[in-house]
Amino acid sequence: MELDEAILKRSSVRYFSDEPVREEEIRALIEAAIRAPTASGLENWFFVVFKSEEARRKIYDLIGEGMVEYYRAVNLPEEKIGKLKRRIYEEGMYGAPVYIAVFIDRRVRFLKGEEFDEVEFIWSVESAAMAIENLMLKAVELGLGTVYIGVTNFKGIDKKVRELAGLDGNYYLVGVIPVGRPRNETKPRGRRRKAEDVTKIL
Ligand SMILES: Cc1cc2nc3c(=O)[nH]c(=O)nc-3n(C[C@H](O)[C@H](O)[C@H](O)COP(=O)(O)O)c2cc1C
Repeated sequence: MELDEAILKRSSVRYFSDEPVREEEIRALIEAAIRAPTASGLENWFFVVFKSEEARRKIYDLIGEGMVEYYRAVNLPEEKIGKLKRRIYEEGMYGAPVYIAVFIDRRVRFLKGEEFDEVEFIWSVESAAMAIENLMLKAVELGLGTVYIGVTNFKGIDKKVRELAGLDGNYYLVGVIPVGRPRNETKPRGRRRKAEDVTKIL
């Protein structure tokens, strides 16, 4: 698949079929992810694959919890929230055969000194986010769908994801990525702003 095709075809997929994601596909996704640039060559990312029925159920519940918190935070009316909850809990939105949680290990450092704490943390998160985009583009090539879940970073939920992953407080959750075959045909979402609107050439 050409790069342009993968970039243009990628769009967030929130409904998946029950068809499993094969081991070799998961491996290919992570192999693609770790080819991403990584600040100072740290490679301090860590990928936890939730595959068992029990682990998936727990992650799905945490995504549901986070999404409801999100809907409330953006002041959606309760009636609309009820509708969205039905999408999650009755129609299986966000239910996927695999979830990949991406963490960074904050102990792995390159720059010494407290003054670099923040920049190193941000670099690590940025590196992990780049890895996630690689993973998502590879998924398109494999006919798989993904969506970046950020609501699991809400206070309290992030800790539960980390504990489910069996990791200690040195690990910081960057995102959770449901992966599976799209239930319906994917239709890439348009962009409100054109390239020229968000570019300045000096
Ligand atoms: C950092 C980040 C966090 C996101 N968190 C969520 C989320 O919690 N739930 C969700 O349904 N989509 C989430 N998304 C997906 C965005 O809503 C989506 O990328 C955006 O609407 C553009 O649509 P597209 O990905 O189909 O092009 C997130 C995306 C990013 C980059």
